[in-house]
Amino acid sequence: MLLNIEDYRREARRRLPRFVFEYIDGAAEDEHCMRRNREALDSLALLPRCLRDTTTVDPAIDVFGHTWKRPFAIAPTGFNGLLRPQGDLLLARAAAVAGIPFVLSTASNTRLEEVAAAGGMQWLQLYVMGERSIAEQLVRRARNAGYQALVLTVDVPVSGYRERDVRNGFRLPFRPTLPTLLDLCLHPAWLARLARAGMPQFANLAESEGAGGSPQVQAALLARAMDRSLVWENIAWLRRMWDGPILVKGLLHPDDARKAALHGVDGIIVSNHGGRQLDAAPAAMVALPRMLDAAGQQLPVFVDSGFRRGSDVVKALACGAKAVFIGRPLLYGMAARGENGASDVLRILAEELDRTLTLLGATGIGELGPHNLMLHAPTLSDPLLQTPPRAMRAAS
Ligand code: FNR
Repeated sequence: MLLNIEDYRREARRRLPRFVFEYIDGAAEDEHCMRRNREALDSLALLPRCLRDTTTVDPAIDVFGHTWKRPFAIAPTGFNGLLRPQGDLLLARAAAVAGIPFVLSTASNTRLEEVAAAGGMQWLQLYVMGERSIAEQLVRRARNAGYQALVLTVDVPVSGYRERDVRNGFRLPFRPTLPTLLDLCLHPAWLARLARAGMPQFANLAESEGAGGSPQVQAALLARAMDRSLVWENIAWLRRMWDGPILVKGLLHPDDARKAALHGVDGIIVSNHGGRQLDAAPAAMVALPRMLDAAGQQLPVFVDSGFRRGSDVVKALACGAKAVFIGRPLLYGMAARGENGASDVLRILAEELDRTLTLLGATGIGELGPHNLMLHAPTLSDPLLQTPPRAMRAAS
């Protein structure tokens, strides 16, 4: 029985060859940051209010003029085609059914026009690589295809060192090791799907269909070789091409939150890339309050990294985040059961969220606030969370 995200994670591990599972499940170096994301969320408790009329609970929110049925969306993830052929399309469809946005990655394997045809709300995530023309054609096409917002990811000046991927020989051109070849034989269903569909290509690197970008550009994208000369002033370059909302994803420093507001960005996503970049980075939930202090009055602040339960989402909203982006859980769902699995993951999160709101005595997201939060147990590994409020010290 697959009741929660961890169940789906275990099922995904069973269904995928090891190098694919570790590509989605892994993080940078010692994976401290990924663990800290969880520790920070687990350190927070939610305080319920009782004897309130919760006969009707409305979990919807409005973001940039659009209604989201729940206060979360699907984070951009590259190489979704490795899990299932047309993986991007499957996730976009699941998001459309759930009434929430899907963010398509620059490193996606399905043409953005085809994804747009799935209906629903689509956003485009932008990596700016050495060849700026790649980003320019992506933005142009996204505008023509009706994408609603642009998400510029800025926490990848170089790729985080993901040691599981290195050990598994996961890079382009793909040269599987002997253990990997044996492992492939143990996952015939996955292998048969890949054989039928062919190795996924980065389908959005070129304007015209079929031209997926040179092998060098494909390999550079997989190695996440981005344009390191990109600076805040370049937001103006994007603004000239795109008049919809522009969000910057991957910020953790309050000064950067202020810079974003100063440079006319429409929203920020507080994120450590799910622990996949700077392993020494703070948990996103630890960074969030300072980011809200710095820029929360000027722009909506979103967050991702480590959210696995509807109650986790509620914790971020109670802090003041506008909404939460969810990454790996959707990949576990899709790896386990295709589009149905992705939809089921979204259903589980939605039900958990609705139940949590009701248990808190809240009939809508607007009623959540810091009054719902308290530190549950200080963690040893996170100095920012080590001072419990006076009331807790007195009780212990
Ligand atoms: C990512 N992420 C990511 N982010 C981005 O801006 N562009 C991308 O192409 C990718 N690719 C990608 C691949 C995989 C396999 C993962 C797991 C993640 C990061 C993603 O958008 C998000 O920040 C994290 O996944 C959030 O953390 P959780 O929810 O996975 O813990």
